Amino acid sequence: MSGCETRVVAIALDGAFADHSADRRAGQQYPGGRTRPASQFSGRQPATAETDELLKSQLSAEGPASAIAKTESAADANEPLPPNAGQSADIDAQRIKESFGYLMADAQSAMEYFYAQLFATSAEARAMFPLCMSQQRQRLFAALCRVVGSLDGGEASRAYVAELGRDHRKFGVRDKHHPAFFDALLATARHCAGRAWTPETASAWRAALDYVSATMRAAAAADAAARPAWWVGEIVAHEVRAPSVAVLTIRPDQPLEYAAGQYLPVQVSRWPRVWRSFSIACAPRPSGLIDLHIRAVPGGLVSNALVHHLATGDTVLLGPPKGVMTAPGTDRDLLCVAGGTGLAPIKAIVDSVLAAPAGPPRKITLFVGARREEDLYDLAALRALESAHPSVHVIPVLSEQPGFGGLTGMLPDVVRGNGLFSNAEVYICGPDAMVRRTALLLAADVPAGHIHHDPLPDTPDFPAAGPGTGAGQAATAPQGG
Ligand SMILES: Cc1cc2nc3c(=O)[nH]c(=O)nc-3n(C[C@H](O)[C@H](O)[C@H](O)COP(=O)(O)OP(=O)(O)OC[C@H]3O[C@@H](n4cnc5c(N)ncnc54)[C@H](O)[C@@H]3O)c2cc1C
Ligand code: HEM
Ligand code: HEM
Repeated sequence: MSGCETRVVAIALDGAFADHSADRRAGQQYPGGRTRPASQFSGRQPATAETDELLKSQLSAEGPASAIAKTESAADANEPLPPNAGQSADIDAQRIKESFGYLMADAQSAMEYFYAQLFATSAEARAMFPLCMSQQRQRLFAALCRVVGSLDGGEASRAYVAELGRDHRKFGVRDKHHPAFFDALLATARHCAGRAWTPETASAWRAALDYVSATMRAAAAADAAARPAWWVGEIVAHEVRAPSVAVLTIRPDQPLEYAAGQYLPVQVSRWPRVWRSFSIACAPRPSGLIDLHIRAVPGGLVSNALVHHLATGDTVLLGPPKGVMTAPGTDRDLLCVAGGTGLAPIKAIVDSVLAAPAGPPRKITLFVGARREEDLYDLAALRALESAHPSVHVIPVLSEQPGFGGLTGMLPDVVRGNGLFSNAEVYICGPDAMVRRTALLLAADVPAGHIHHDPLPDTPDFPAAGPGTGAGQAATAPQGG
């Protein structure tokens, strides 16, 4: 058992990973297929002295390259990386794309064949894969297609595959799991190609899969030398601010480096192996504490657990922070547009700009959209920020409260109609549709490159403006309105 495994089980055993769902958790699996024995989760208990010691020792002088990270990289370093790690130049991408077509043409039988091969050769792999998660399946196919589609893409392809390698650390994937996975994939490609499979196709696939595996492993090992695969976060404050919104303050058990504006994956013990992204709502603090703003979506697994089931003293798992919508490197004024809990990363960015060593004075205008007044869950804190910093101007916008004394209407249109922002650095976060529409409207004034938001899915879904549609908050949006 590795260092990581020992650590999480130790925390689980002493009850610090407790919430109100002992019965559902019993016997369920945790990253890497570990199982929690039922008897060890008999209700919520306070963290013990043992946990405190554990947390203290992990927060001690070691720095980010912690014991857990060292253990993992040392174990994986035993397996030498193939010499072609990180080189895609010799891959016959065209040949692979052609035969990948056979696999895609009959995805159902490809899938059956793949899992039969994988599980026949690796019992451990069986425990690592969930039984049912169709959203994940779509992501997997998108990712596989992207890997195959970009095999001849040089640096961009290498960067994507490396990212996959880093991302898989939080699933408990280790070097030793790679051979069974890629052998199964190769066997599947051969099976699907049938008579079209030639020795040349075989060697093209082998070279490509060696490259993908080696690049993933090298990136994972480099990442493991710098940071853990996941952090245990203790909830130190849990405040329900609106009917379905809570603000959580979490103490990671080890230093967690991030840039203001980034998000991180969160897993709750009630839903083992289900990771959801949440934006960090503050700039990095000396205390290491992070804030999250969570909206519980109807029927949502992780968001409801975080808002309605977890409480102070409970713990969650945190994955590595990521995201490119980070604080500006310029001195331009700031226009921030936040819909719902899209406020979280925006607040972090504003925080970090205000904390930066004094530069030329810059105006920060923050539009905060919500449906009704009670949904402005962070208004008191924003007003306090405004009082402390005269450069900050907070403008609430409500979409479903016509009698409201302030601005009303659809957030993107209200922003567009209330100021000239051509010299501003623009940050937008919230439901996809709102982000898309705001970016579109502002693009008329603001030069390309000065409008920032997280990547959006391809399909536009902005509802027609009108009564009852909310401040641009569409149901499919990733970040709750
Ligand atoms: C980069 C990024 C950052 C994010 N940051 C935050 C954040 O700071 N705060 C926050 O609250 N959320 C944030 N989200 C959204 C979050 O990751 C989850 O998608 C959301 O909490 C739902 O997860 P769940 O497990 O509760 O719901 P699931 O179990 O995944 O979904 C259950 C049902 O709810 C629907 N659903 C999913 N999301 C929404 C939604 N937003 N509105 C309405 N219905 C929905 C699904 O279609 C499904 O029918 C972010 C998402 C991304 C991609
Ligand atoms: C990282 C590796 C993989 C993961 C995490 C993964 C995960 C999943 C999950 C969770 C499902 C949904 C199961 C369900 O809904 O019941 C699924 C289905 C599927 N997988 Fe995978 N998978 C992986 C690799 C592969 C590979 C390599 C192939 C093809 C060769 C493949 C082909 C499929 C297909 C075709 C389905 C759809 C089955 C259906 O429509 O019913 N998967 N996968
Ligand atoms: C071509 C290489 C690979 C691709 C394209 C790929 C793709 C993916 C994707 C897209 C996901 C879902 C990520 C998410 O939900 O955020 C995933 C999850 C996962 N992958 Fe892979 N993967 C690859 C290699 C591997 C390997 C080598 C293993 C080792 C066994 C592996 C095991 C897993 C596991 C265990 C999960 C999580 C399943 C869960 O619990 O939800 N993958 N993969």
